[in-house]
Amino acid sequence: MVDIEKQQSASATTTSKLLHFIIRSIPAIILLGFIAITGSGVLLNKDQDYFPLSSKNCGSRPLCPIIPYVRPDSYHSDNSTVLKIISDESFRNSSAKKLSGAVRIKTDVYDDSPLVKEDPKYWDDKFKPFYEYLESTFPNLFEFAEVERINGWALVFTWKGSNHSLKPILLTAHQDVVPTQDATLKDWTYPPYEGVYDGEHLWGRGSADCKNLLIGVIEALEELHANGFKPNRTIVLGFGIDEEIGGERGASKIGEKLLEKYGKSSFYAVIDEGGQSLIEQEGIFLALPGTGEKGIVNVVIGLNTPGGHSSVPPDHTSIGILSKLISSIEDEPFHAIFSPRNPTFHEYQCIATHSPSLSPAVRTAILNAEANPLANEVAIEYLTHQSLATRYLIETTQAVDLIHGGAKSNALPEYTEAVINHRISVESSVNETVSKDLRHVLKIAKRFNLGVLYEDTELLPKTDAGYFTVHKEGSLEPAPLTPVNDKHWDILGGVIRHVYEEVAYPSKFDDKPVVVAPGIATGNTDTHWYWPLTEHIYRYRPGLTPTVETHAHGVDEHIPFDSHLQIIAFYYQYLQVIDSLED
Ligand SMILES: *[C@@H]1O[C@H](CO)[C@@H](O)[C@H](O)[C@H]1NC(C)=O
Ligand SMILES: *[C@@H]1O[C@H](CO)[C@@H](O)[C@H](O)[C@H]1NC(C)=O
Ligand SMILES: *[C@@H]1O[C@H](CO)[C@@H](O)[C@H](O)[C@H]1NC(C)=O
Ligand SMILES: *[C@@H]1O[C@H](CO)[C@@H](O)[C@H](O)[C@H]1NC(C)=O
Ligand SMILES: *[C@@H]1O[C@H](CO)[C@@H](O)[C@H](O)[C@H]1NC(C)=O
Ligand SMILES: [Zn+2]
Repeated sequence: MVDIEKQQSASATTTSKLLHFIIRSIPAIILLGFIAITGSGVLLNKDQDYFPLSSKNCGSRPLCPIIPYVRPDSYHSDNSTVLKIISDESFRNSSAKKLSGAVRIKTDVYDDSPLVKEDPKYWDDKFKPFYEYLESTFPNLFEFAEVERINGWALVFTWKGSNHSLKPILLTAHQDVVPTQDATLKDWTYPPYEGVYDGEHLWGRGSADCKNLLIGVIEALEELHANGFKPNRTIVLGFGIDEEIGGERGASKIGEKLLEKYGKSSFYAVIDEGGQSLIEQEGIFLALPGTGEKGIVNVVIGLNTPGGHSSVPPDHTSIGILSKLISSIEDEPFHAIFSPRNPTFHEYQCIATHSPSLSPAVRTAILNAEANPLANEVAIEYLTHQSLATRYLIETTQAVDLIHGGAKSNALPEYTEAVINHRISVESSVNETVSKDLRHVLKIAKRFNLGVLYEDTELLPKTDAGYFTVHKEGSLEPAPLTPVNDKHWDILGGVIRHVYEEVAYPSKFDDKPVVVAPGIATGNTDTHWYWPLTEHIYRYRPGLTPTVETHAHGVDEHIPFDSHLQIIAFYYQYLQVIDSLED
């Protein structure tokens, strides 16, 4: 996953904020007292399929049902393979060896890595060894699946199904990793490219992001094949080479190829890295497959003013004026939005429905947030004050990350530039986000009698005082939302519950089921290159630790090895389940 934002621990528990919240909540609590309230935090029995919750805003289904288990038929007749994957020591050892070998091949990519056509050798040097490693470690895969190399070393494996009227499934991961920094090499417990397995954890760059997923998916396929599985539904694997720097060389080309070969909306689903595998929050276990992704845009604002000697300056130099613009923009943060279009909305409905510990006021507010504007406001207050991480699940960000200006201490700055990075909330768009910045630019431009040029359009004519230029870079709209509460979702969630609760930890969850809820991916993934292939895109990698706890991208990246085995077990079961389904 690219660009992981650290989950902040709840930082807003200062007395003043809490007090503020309670005071703000009082009218809502009183008002909501008149609304049907049922969220009293009843714990569920494992076998209870649906939580019997009545609420104003439930549609045809209750809020956040506990998804029933979904198991492949083979589980009833012979569960030995999946149990072997989870708990057999020699399987575990040989699996560790496979992942370790993958970590040992250094496939790091950089922001300034060339395009493949610019320097094919650069890519050969890094990725040919990885290809050869896969070929020698998984000879069966190279037999039963067709392998294609795309744009050099991006890989597509196709295990052809017998029934061509069934939509294929696409499982993806990336071969590349983020670089390590020389300055921090000494801080690693084990060198980053040794892939040390200590019996419990596997350490190294890529062990969590995401060679574990790539190797795990392959292992699942090899186990299926070894057990005589012959797919009805075609299984496609797509492994890019540059996810960490945008995916243009890898996933983008894979996406084009698959679109050409299979057509629009031709896939049953795409599953990529991301999401939260299993987290404990407010007293419940949550699995959060990512069903949405925020958008992104960098807005580059330049200000051109006449130069001159610093001994006769105007009241405001371009640096001064740009500072006023930045203040103006920062003083108006985006509005938080808590709407059912955001996966976070459903996640918190689930927490409110099932958590034994959430305060009644917050619970009631969240459960009624769709129908009742005051409840919505309280829910927003809760999320925005809990931590920055929860705030920005529901709000577009603005961060002035770069500023340049001036050349000399005795010369007026002729050109000053700032770059504002935005992560766009799912209800919004690139256009709406840029428009807000532009509004401030126009306001400041009028005040200082300056022109404004947005992309190629003159919004205000240039003047003798100068002009702003505004353009956007690296923009990506928020991802189309994956539907939830449909059959695809229930199958995914049901297999997740089955694998965690019945196979991996028959005694861990006591009477608490794993609540499978939609989540919003914390960083961006390669999935945007696959948007046309299906509306069912899930960002989900099974395992015990959220990506941030694995130190992905940081020093000491590692995984608990149990997590790796759970990836294999999950795909082993899931692929069997979807094989016998109609689309
Ligand atoms: C696996 O199958 C065996 C034999 O049918 C059964 O006794 C056992 O409970 C099953 N184990 C699990 C974890 O489902
Ligand atoms: C697995 O590897 C460990 C060392 O990490 C070793 O002690 C153990 O004997 C191995 N088990 C099997 C079944 O190979
Ligand atoms: C947003 O879209 C509208 C309608 O297409 C267009 O007129 C406007 O220029 C766009 N704004 C930006 C900032 O691109
Ligand atoms: C494949 O489809 C056939 C016929 O629809 C079905 O009988 C069989 O169980 C399916 N195979 C698997 C592995 O589910
Ligand atoms: C292929 O799948 C379709 C859709 O599920 C089903 O109607 C058809 O019977 C299957 N064909 C075979 C040969 O199994
Ligand atoms: Zn990744």
